[in-house]
Amino acid sequence: MAGDAVYSELDRYLETTPRSREMWEEAKRYLPGGDTRNSIFWAPYPIYIQDGGGCHAVDLDGTDRLDFIGNMTSLPLGNAYPPVVKAVQEQAARGLVYNAPNEHQVRLARLLCRRVPSVELVRFTNSGTEATLNAVRAARAFTGRTKIAKCEGGYHGTHDAVSVSVRTDPAMGGSPERPTAVPSVAGLPPSVVEEVVVMPFNDTAAARAILEDNAGELAAVIVEPVLGGSGMVPADQEYLDALREFTELDGSVLIFDEVISFRASHGGAQEHYGIRPDMTTFGKIIGGGFAVGAFGGRRDLMDLYDPTTGPVVGHAGTFNGNPMTMVAGAVTLEDLTPDVYDRLGPLTEGLRQGVRDACAELDVPVRVTGLGSLFGIHFLDRPVRTYRDVHSSDRDLRQRVFWGLMNEGILSTANLVGAVSNPMAQGEVDAFVEAFRTVLARNAG
Ligand SMILES: Cc1ncc(COP(=O)(O)O)c(C=O)c1O
Repeated sequence: MAGDAVYSELDRYLETTPRSREMWEEAKRYLPGGDTRNSIFWAPYPIYIQDGGGCHAVDLDGTDRLDFIGNMTSLPLGNAYPPVVKAVQEQAARGLVYNAPNEHQVRLARLLCRRVPSVELVRFTNSGTEATLNAVRAARAFTGRTKIAKCEGGYHGTHDAVSVSVRTDPAMGGSPERPTAVPSVAGLPPSVVEEVVVMPFNDTAAARAILEDNAGELAAVIVEPVLGGSGMVPADQEYLDALREFTELDGSVLIFDEVISFRASHGGAQEHYGIRPDMTTFGKIIGGGFAVGAFGGRRDLMDLYDPTTGPVVGHAGTFNGNPMTMVAGAVTLEDLTPDVYDRLGPLTEGLRQGVRDACAELDVPVRVTGLGSLFGIHFLDRPVRTYRDVHSSDRDLRQRVFWGLMNEGILSTANLVGAVSNPMAQGEVDAFVEAFRTVLARNAG
């Protein structure tokens, strides 16, 4: 039965996406596996999207889907948000990029510093990867130490220092309480892996013990307050409190990677938890749909980058703070008012509850996680708190549900994480839950 169901969802996907398949066949001639961004590749091939606006995404075959991911959570106001499009068009007519700073970078920096009190000074990059690279580098420069601690399952981009124990197979990862540092990609020098201390997410006692063992040696502890791409699992308050307490005493730098979790509340997850990290990294929503990243935090750390007094740490980048990204980000943050968060939070909780109810009706074990407008669906029958919990969910069912949702007009991600955006209302949430119930009925059992 399950085998037939796999075939039927996949078969329907293949039948309804011929143009995407053709494009992917062509893509394979020039791009390895036809792909240039692993996180949006799924088997057997992804759809190619040619059009999108608001909460809709239209593929090459003309199929219009509700977009419940918005470029991996980066579009909280929807795609092609009209005020962003207008501002970008006006800026484009005046110049795409200049060999000098522009007023919009000051505007976006001011918005970020006012919104996130722990960010006294900020610098812009073109990706979240560059943001975490610089935060780690600043911590090392400031402390004179080299080791960093990160969580098992924590994703902080693609640079070497953080490409350890991201999507690890638990069979390779040692005990849950003492995870081994496992390279997440080939090509990492062993010396890089040796500098990474891995802690379990949300296991306060185990993390504390690991950190104590490395006291005095850590430059930074980097954590996603909501384990994002790995499943939208919010951290426990006591876990983040413990990291703050340890780093304060230890003199190591606490980095909150808010590339995803900044979407969780107006002042980011740090506002939600009431914790002031030393540094914060940003990406996604602060670019209004354009490539972006930023890192910021305590003045004494950020002063390392000050060209008028050094800089101690250099940081260039041809497109850093470019006016197109900066104006799109500024318009987005200006319009992402507390009211928007107040609206999206309950709407998303309705989606989470709808998914729980559908699973209860069909007797399918599920845990639905998330914070604010973020959600993650996990097919298992115990609480989801750690990366290992996420990893133990029913992958076969997850795969079928993903294809099934695509067949029913819903775009999310292959591991069933998603986000509700402001163009959505109850009707879109109901459509998601209805599609989910239909797919589950076809595939469960
Ligand atoms: C928490 C987190 N940090 C860093 C990154 C890297 O950002 P980028 O893809 O812009 O390099 C991501 C990307 O998904 C992320 O989710």
